[in-house]
Amino acid sequence: MGDLQRFDRFADLLVREFPTAACVWDIAGGMGKLNAALTARGRTVLTFDARAKHLPVPFAERLLTLDEPCATDLIVGLHPDGATRIIIDYAARHRLPFAVIPCCSDNSMPYKPWLRHVGDIARDAGFAVTEIDLNITGRRRVVLGRWAP
Ligand SMILES: C[S@@+](CC[C@H](N)C(=O)[O-])C[C@H]1O[C@@H](n2cnc3c(N)ncnc32)[C@H](O)[C@@H]1O
Repeated sequence: MGDLQRFDRFADLLVREFPTAACVWDIAGGMGKLNAALTARGRTVLTFDARAKHLPVPFAERLLTLDEPCATDLIVGLHPDGATRIIIDYAARHRLPFAVIPCCSDNSMPYKPWLRHVGDIARDAGFAVTEIDLNITGRRRVVLGRWAP
């Protein structure tokens, strides 16, 4: 199930860390609860996830690919499973900032090596990477990427 506080806590962090990002793409957003939390904080949000059952929020019922035309200021993923890498790749292609809270790897790596690998992928792509622990239970490490000046 996961910590039900994660949506509000992550939304608070995103608003604090990226105050000028008016439009946010929420990748692998599941039911759309992070979308609702960010919308309540004044952001325009589009969730991408292949699932058909979700909250009545702006929702693209498909997986994000690199072919998607870019129309966002910030791209994020909360426990995005196999979508972690595409978030960083997409952000790199469009020079967007990103924030992910990794959970499962896409290559059978255990959690801690996967977390280090995610940071390495982002640094190799040219991002300045910072990490913050969110005040939730379970997988809570937030990896933030910004373009270095
Ligand atoms: C662990 S759930 C997390 C959902 C939600 N973010 C949450 O915290 O409740 C992972 C979600 O990732 C979605 N997903 C996996 N790979 C994806 C991809 N490439 N693009 C979009 N969604 C993806 C799945 O459909 C699933 O809903």
